[in-house]
Amino acid sequence: MAASSPYHLVPRLGHADNEPVTTRSSEELAVLPDGPRYPRAVQAMLWLKQPTWLLDRCARLYGDVFTLRLPLGTDLVQVSDPELVRAVFGGSTDVLRAGEANATIIEPIVGPNSVLVLDGPEHLRQRKLISPAFHGDRMRAWETAVRDITRAEVARWPVGKPFALRSAMQSITLEVIVRVVFGVDDAARYEKVRGQVARIAGIGRSPFLLFATQDRKLGPHTPWARFLRARKALHELLAEQISDRRAAADLEQRTDVLSQLLMARDDEGRAMTDEEVRDELITLLFAGHETTATSLAWAFDLLLHHQPALSHLIEQLEDGDRVYLDAVIRETLRLRPVVGLVDRHVRERTTIGGHAIPAGAIVCPNIYLAQRREDLYDNPTAFRPERFDGQSPPGFGWFPFGGGIRRCLGASFATFEMRVVIPEVLRAVTLRPASGRPARIRREAVTFVPHNGAPAVVTSRRP
Ligand code: HEM
Repeated sequence: MAASSPYHLVPRLGHADNEPVTTRSSEELAVLPDGPRYPRAVQAMLWLKQPTWLLDRCARLYGDVFTLRLPLGTDLVQVSDPELVRAVFGGSTDVLRAGEANATIIEPIVGPNSVLVLDGPEHLRQRKLISPAFHGDRMRAWETAVRDITRAEVARWPVGKPFALRSAMQSITLEVIVRVVFGVDDAARYEKVRGQVARIAGIGRSPFLLFATQDRKLGPHTPWARFLRARKALHELLAEQISDRRAAADLEQRTDVLSQLLMARDDEGRAMTDEEVRDELITLLFAGHETTATSLAWAFDLLLHHQPALSHLIEQLEDGDRVYLDAVIRETLRLRPVVGLVDRHVRERTTIGGHAIPAGAIVCPNIYLAQRREDLYDNPTAFRPERFDGQSPPGFGWFPFGGGIRRCLGASFATFEMRVVIPEVLRAVTLRPASGRPARIRREAVTFVPHNGAPAVVTSRRP
């Protein structure tokens, strides 16, 4: 999932300690890097509806650093030069606050204890408690489950009729994350958890609508009212699950994420509270499925529209060689980053690459722009997995998982899942694209998704 506040158009929450966000003086405003001069409302409309057009145009006109000015005094300083990105990721976490920036939108979903919305020592504590659950060794144990779930999903695809790859991939990744997070246990309860996660994800796809109805008494059918009901139901299911699992006799033998979280201890030997466990479970369920599903959909959309790359991949996989598969995954994450940028809320006036950035602004290492730089990539808008064939990506010119102390906790897991799902699909069916060109990039909440769900057709099943 995505980490930054979707539209940046919602009134900001206060700081973690509920202080109001610093207000900027006119002198501070003057030092913001240059950017488009359209009225804020027009910039907001473009940001929502044509984000990649706007970013490409601004990069052409203003270069590596520019400011987008949105309503409610929200100033987004976009940074795409690798050295400046490095400076932001390595900057002081007292000054550059990812949790505060993320909280604006996602705290109602993930809760106040989520690693995504915390900063400082509290953030580090949660990160340390969660990280071991995604250690490399554990992945091997999940491989068979991911394979089986993929096979079962592919078996349901129609032959000869278009279907949306993105929703097919969402079915796979949601099932995978629920299984990995909870282990194999109470199938009926997981069915309910899956249903609530899918429901909340559906409502959250239009966060503007969701939040626009937050403070209004418009009856039980507004997106906000539906969201509150779904969240309550999910909290109840998770509370039952946490309490049952705490009491499980085999807790210490279990390898699922929930059991790992219950057994984890911080530096002072303290366990996580039920509320902390609940908020991290929700974070992992949401962060862990839509992003990976969309990346998989993009990978297939690009491959199906680039037949030589697809044929080469199939040949390599048949020979047991996975180097090209890794190159395809890297190139997909480069050209179609699902999270286009990450946010750092500037708490105190700071300087980045000679630009003085006032308190209250949001600095955004821009993944989409950095990964399309002509000085780093030949023909940057072309899908060419060969550029990564046995080659590592350039540092801070490829960061689809963000960076620094906030780098995605599920990066290895997402890559592992893509490495299992892509070959499994290609082994089971022959696909053709159902559209003449690769899908256009459309914004959906915080993510960049294929505008039409990336339709494809199964032409035959393989024996
Ligand atoms: C292709 C799939 C994925 C992409 C592109 C992606 C991308 C990102 C990005 C860009 C961030 C923000 C990093 C920053 O602010 O610098 C992030 C954070 C995070 N992601 Fe992912 N993610 C993916 C899959 C996953 C999965 C599978 C999980 C969990 C199972 C996950 C869990 C998290 C968590 C917990 C954070 C918060 C880290 C923190 O704030 O310390 N993500 N992800």
